[in-house]
Amino acid sequence: MAFSGVWRFHALVPFAPPEKVITVGEGRTILQRADRVGSYAGMAPGRLFLQYEGMNPSGSFKDNGMTAAFTHAHLVGAQRAICASTGNTSASVALFSAVDGRIPAVVLVGSGKIAYGKLAQTLDYGVRVLQVLGDFDVCMRRVKQVARELQFYLMNSLNPFRLEGQKAIMYRILEGLSWEVPDWIVVPGGNLGNSSAFGKAFHELKEIGLIRRAPRLAVINAAGADTLYRIVNEEKLAWNGGRVDTGRIEAFYRKMDAENRRARTLASAIEINRPVNLKKCLRALEWTGGLVEKVTDQEILDAKARIGAGGFGCEPASAATVAGLKKLRAAGTIGKDERVVCVLTGHTLKDPNVAVAYHTETDEALREKYGPYGVRGAACANKPIVVEDDLDKIIAAIEA
Ligand code: F0G
Repeated sequence: MAFSGVWRFHALVPFAPPEKVITVGEGRTILQRADRVGSYAGMAPGRLFLQYEGMNPSGSFKDNGMTAAFTHAHLVGAQRAICASTGNTSASVALFSAVDGRIPAVVLVGSGKIAYGKLAQTLDYGVRVLQVLGDFDVCMRRVKQVARELQFYLMNSLNPFRLEGQKAIMYRILEGLSWEVPDWIVVPGGNLGNSSAFGKAFHELKEIGLIRRAPRLAVINAAGADTLYRIVNEEKLAWNGGRVDTGRIEAFYRKMDAENRRARTLASAIEINRPVNLKKCLRALEWTGGLVEKVTDQEILDAKARIGAGGFGCEPASAATVAGLKKLRAAGTIGKDERVVCVLTGHTLKDPNVAVAYHTETDEALREKYGPYGVRGAACANKPIVVEDDLDKIIAAIEA
């Protein structure tokens, strides 16, 4: 247990007896000062930190939640597990299922909606993968039905035990800052499990007196998948002390369907129309004085390359954090001397296609490929240099 970055905080995640814990050594991640990335986002030196959750066993933050969910699944005697996924949940479920060996899993992914690294892992770990002809929201609806009909244990973040595990990401950030509370936590918003879990973590820490104030949460949507942004900033819907106007949320979704608005972003991890943790996220925003911003795929890809060049490669969804910070800095919402932590949710190798395209294609070819996503070029690309097999030319290319 001491080896797990989740369970070493057992007193704050106390639902399972230690001998029942299922762990794969998740959450051994650290908080890293990132001045070069900070300077790209407009922060003063020493003020930006990256919490690198790509360094988990399955390459994303999901393992923090999955250790808790698998532990709980055993506590309630689950026989089989299921999830819908944009790729990372499925990889994490598949890894835990394979290592644990007692709860076979089925995962549903949308067609053409999953990055290659994630699909490769999930297939390799040997679980049953259904590629459903539809998107994530379609898969999510179906797994809820299957879970009910066939008594499968649901591994999505709709499951509150997932969120219990994900609280630990915040404990490690505080630990990394010697329990000094940062001013902002910046996190991508997809199904809104993280933002919900983070809000709950800070609320509880405040209640038990371990911190005096919560940092503000900045949740960043992709512009092409901006349900939360629109609900909070345009519809002005809020937690409102628990009296969420669910009627208006339903009306908003009906309008979205009527207009046939479907999420579309290169940050495929967060290509989600109806975030299942919407209400809990509204609660987290209220608890922390948080806000929601959105960024374009172009901003995401440029930020992703800068994060990589800072030494912490991440997948597109994670880069929404730094892109969002840059935008909030430019607007003056976040000050350059405030202390900010961006959560990098997934590893760069999760989405090799986007990374390779960005760094190797000409702007013209990139536009052809990703033009429909609003991508115009690769200002931060690190292009490979093609060189003949000739020592002088190789040396010239090195010294150029
Ligand atoms: N970043 C990455 C890399 C993700 O994989 C996800 C979600 C998010 C951010 C969004 O997090 O849902 O807590 O708001 N991926 C899910 C999946 C949907 O199926 O892997 P959230």
